[in-house]
Amino acid sequence: MPARPRLIAIDGPAAAGKGTLARRLAAHFGLAYLDTGLLYRAVGARVLAAGGDPRDPVAAAAAARAITPDDLALPELRTERAGQAASAVATIPAVRAALSDFQRDFAARPEGAVLDGRDIGTVICPDAPVKLYVTASAEVRAKRRLEEMQARGVAADHAAILAEVRARDEQDAGRAVAPMRPAEDALLLDTSALDPDQAFAAALALIAARLGG
Ligand code: DC
Repeated sequence: MPARPRLIAIDGPAAAGKGTLARRLAAHFGLAYLDTGLLYRAVGARVLAAGGDPRDPVAAAAAARAITPDDLALPELRTERAGQAASAVATIPAVRAALSDFQRDFAARPEGAVLDGRDIGTVICPDAPVKLYVTASAEVRAKRRLEEMQARGVAADHAAILAEVRARDEQDAGRAVAPMRPAEDALLLDTSALDPDQAFAAALALIAARLGG
């Protein structure tokens, strides 16, 4: 029986396949799952709903302190508008500080956990026994986004989506506090040429090798 990790930290850029992979790993190992991007999206959406600017540190920090579990279930959190607002509030140190206890408490659950985001392996759970950094080329990620939107019947343009993907990467990797980057001990997984089943199999193999199982 291969070893079961107690905590898996998954980081990487938008639309690299982190969420799908994280959910499958959580189900496979019987771990709880937290999509930490949702926390930042909820903060961004709260600021937007109040007519504020997600780059305003005072408004964003107040929104981060006011977040409740109900905020995480709002359907509008999945939109690109919410994603961009999330990326903006995520550059503000007081926002990150306000959200960190919730994430660390989640990671400490007795049944174990999978968390995905941008700074899980570097800042939130630096001692996680398994860290994955999941990437794909910007072109592939934009194409996946486009196909997702087309499947939902939403009109979309590849060039515009590619520009959004690149702008978000730049903001998430370029910020001063907790920038998106692989932890030194992260296992790298490039999903550019992999479908979700192949990415899952590759992740399981990397995890088994890391845990010696
Ligand atoms: O994973 P996502 O697309 O839902 O994340 C939305 C934004 O939130 C992302 O562009 C940057 C920010 N984020 C972050 O800074 N740190 C995290 N742990 C998760 C998300």
